[in-house]
Amino acid sequence: MRDKIIIIGASGHGKVVADIARLNGYKEIIFLDDDESKNRNSIYDIVGTSKDIEDYKDEYDCIIAVGDNTVREKIYHTLKGIKLAVLIHPAAVVDKTAVIGEGTVIMANAVVNADVVIKKCCIINTAATVDHDSIIENFVHVSPGVHIAGTVHVGDRTWIGIGGLVVNNLTICNDCIIGSGSTVVRDIKTSGTYAGCPARKVK
Ligand SMILES: CC(C)(COP(=O)(O)OP(=O)(O)OC[C@H]1O[C@@H](n2cnc3c(N)ncnc32)[C@H](O)[C@@H]1OP(=O)(O)O)[C@@H](O)C(=O)NCCC(=O)NCCS
Repeated sequence: MRDKIIIIGASGHGKVVADIARLNGYKEIIFLDDDESKNRNSIYDIVGTSKDIEDYKDEYDCIIAVGDNTVREKIYHTLKGIKLAVLIHPAAVVDKTAVIGEGTVIMANAVVNADVVIKKCCIINTAATVDHDSIIENFVHVSPGVHIAGTVHVGDRTWIGIGGLVVNNLTICNDCIIGSGSTVVRDIKTSGTYAGCPARKVK
């Protein structure tokens, strides 16, 4: 780990990621954002767009702080093999057997239990819990206050909205959106938007 980090994505989510970086000991924190009209994010400078990463990659650790899973994945593929940091808030609880992939951020008060695997560039947001033996594939966003029970499999780019619940032993396939406050009680095998309690396909 270096003591400088560059964060791609200067939205509100980026600000929260910056503070986790600070708490992880990064002394210098700067941003890139593809909206060229932005030049500050809270107390941090925005020094260019994501294309400028080449100028910083040798000196700075890097992370993508974009909440939209598809956009985050697109940016990841432009980075051409730059290894991303993992950021875990000091107030998160992550079991020592859990495996956390590059580019993943685990936010304050999240809990990741035994033998969980969280792959690349995921967001485990504030106070979310992921229970034992679950597998969270690449570019997933688990929103604040979500609870995922044991041995759940969540596919690539799926977004579980704020306060959602997923019952144990289920699979949710790639590219799903689970509405805020919804409860998933059956496997989801077709990509789409699901909401309600129990969650049903709405789109
Ligand atoms: C699921 C969601 C993405 C759907 O948004 P949308 O694609 O614009 O869809 P709509 O608002 O048109 O809703 C479609 C239907 O699903 C229902 N619906 C939407 N969200 C719902 C929810 N959370 N729970 C129950 N029903 C819901 C709507 O009432 C509507 O039903 P109708 O057709 O009978 O009127 C959105 O409602 C949602 O929950 N987003 C999550 C936001 C979030 O968690 N943000 C946290 C960021 S960290």
